[in-house]
Amino acid sequence: MNHKVAFSFADGKTLFFPVQANEILLDAALRNGINIPLDCREGVCGTCQGRCESGDYSQDYVDEEALSSQDLQQRKMLTCQTRVQSDAAFYFDFASSLCNAAGPDQFTATVTDVKQVSASTAILHLNLGKVGPSLDYLPGQYARLLIPGTGNKRSYSFANRPSVSNELQFLIRLLPDGVMSNYIRERCRVGDEIALEAPLGAFYLRHIARPLVLVAGGTGLSALLGMLDELAERGCEQPVHLYYGVRDAADLCEQARINAYEQRIPGFRYTEVVSDPSPHWTGKRGYIAEHFDVAELRDGQVDMYVCGPPPMVESIKTWLQAQALDSVHLYYEKFTESNA
Ligand code: FES
Repeated sequence: MNHKVAFSFADGKTLFFPVQANEILLDAALRNGINIPLDCREGVCGTCQGRCESGDYSQDYVDEEALSSQDLQQRKMLTCQTRVQSDAAFYFDFASSLCNAAGPDQFTATVTDVKQVSASTAILHLNLGKVGPSLDYLPGQYARLLIPGTGNKRSYSFANRPSVSNELQFLIRLLPDGVMSNYIRERCRVGDEIALEAPLGAFYLRHIARPLVLVAGGTGLSALLGMLDELAERGCEQPVHLYYGVRDAADLCEQARINAYEQRIPGFRYTEVVSDPSPHWTGKRGYIAEHFDVAELRDGQVDMYVCGPPPMVESIKTWLQAQALDSVHLYYEKFTESNA
């Protein structure tokens, strides 16, 4: 049985390839044109090392000079000694160019739906069609879209998990005057073709061994919806707490979908926070970190995924340091919104 493997690199590129049953990972990578740096091929030199981010694997031989017991606990691995027993994702702390690996693939997708889902947000549905290549990506990653009728490209996180139907979703922040915002409001029609390149980004769901805290600011929710769809589909035995912060209550979107995760993911909790609400708002107000469940973070040894504007990400990092919550593994994407 073949397994699907993703290799992600420090420059944000991710490459997918099939691995045959019981095949050495390095052999599969080389067969697919991914020339991981190597030397001994015997598990001794450590040159081919990476880290398993998700999935099950075993290693034939690992010399203690190559990886220490602490390295092994951190799921570091040697590509020349690794065999996978499931679909899996690995990270390498060097640029993909070292492997002569090609960059993200280019696709042309068709608009299948577009609608406004809050005062400041639209959701764009694209489909790559049943003919041609399917697009593999890791939940949390993003695509760069060429906006029709312009030479401008903008980056958006996938708001759903990859599927055989090749359907892609993206949350789009609607600016008063922006190239993508104007296209969405004025010209976007079902049937439009949009060129895109993907997958991109090093923000994605890792191996799940601890409780998860997901933190979204504005349309940073998009990447986390992709992760939540993945958790709902493949099952998750760890508790999952989603925090979602917006400026005004009218900016909240995809509420029915978020609430439905309570049925789809056991142990799912949801907290929404509005930073600048109208006087009628009766929910939580202020900044997200003010509403973190500190006991949950202190006791739970959690993995935290944060996607939002740079000031929000920075404020959460500062807050975690101030609370001395060193046990929290923090993964984040600073979601820089274009002003035009
Ligand atoms: S190439 Fe030397 S440990 Fe893999």
